[in-house]
Amino acid sequence: MNRHTFIVAILWVVLTILGEALVAISDLSPLAAAKEAAIVDGAFRVLMVLAVPVVAFVIATLAYSIIRFRIRGEPSQDGPPIRSHGRLIAVWFAVTSGLTVLMVIYPGIIGMNELADLSHEEPDMVVKVEGMRFAWRFTYPEQNVSTFKELVLPVDKHVRFDVTSRDVLHSFWVPAFRMKIDAVPGMVTTVHATPDKTGTFGDDTQLRLQCTELCGLGHSIMTVPVRVVEQSEFEAWVAQQTQTARR
Ligand code: CUA
Repeated sequence: MNRHTFIVAILWVVLTILGEALVAISDLSPLAAAKEAAIVDGAFRVLMVLAVPVVAFVIATLAYSIIRFRIRGEPSQDGPPIRSHGRLIAVWFAVTSGLTVLMVIYPGIIGMNELADLSHEEPDMVVKVEGMRFAWRFTYPEQNVSTFKELVLPVDKHVRFDVTSRDVLHSFWVPAFRMKIDAVPGMVTTVHATPDKTGTFGDDTQLRLQCTELCGLGHSIMTVPVRVVEQSEFEAWVAQQTQTARR
């Protein structure tokens, strides 16, 4: 190992340790308020842990090369030609392919299966969601309630959202739940979430339903607050909605 390689290797190890430590101590995720969100955030964390050594290697090599081999002023001639380095290429190819295969298996296939298992459970509640330019309508068929104002959900209940659109493509996304599905005119798509924390949009803006499919001028404001409440509070809200509707 020559001196340059040795210094880059040391730099790589130091940057990797620093990077992994940063990943370990910092909270990278915004508010997570559903069972499904924990799976998605877990996947993100694994990807970060895998990415740190790769990024550290690139930065270490690049930074060292830029500093150590810099030339002041105009270069008078071309540098030495760079010839292929078979072994290095083979190792690089093997390591990155290995990482890719690992990611396909986990979090890829295993994570997707965990989410699928959750969504195959019988839902405790169904909410019909209809997107339109530029609003969302929520219908609770069992409770016989319908509203445009906010999406109210009981905590720790597995909810299936039956999503559709009245006009163009929209997309249903609650950042705190990490779940997303397109709203397509003429068909019903489903997405599941099990909110596991109470809270409102006022507490954290991740608790909102945000359209995530460009649908016209009002796309960015096609957003509705989400409120996750205790079961009793949910029932009170339903009763209140029913009363208002009767009046
Ligand atoms: Cu609806 Cu963007």
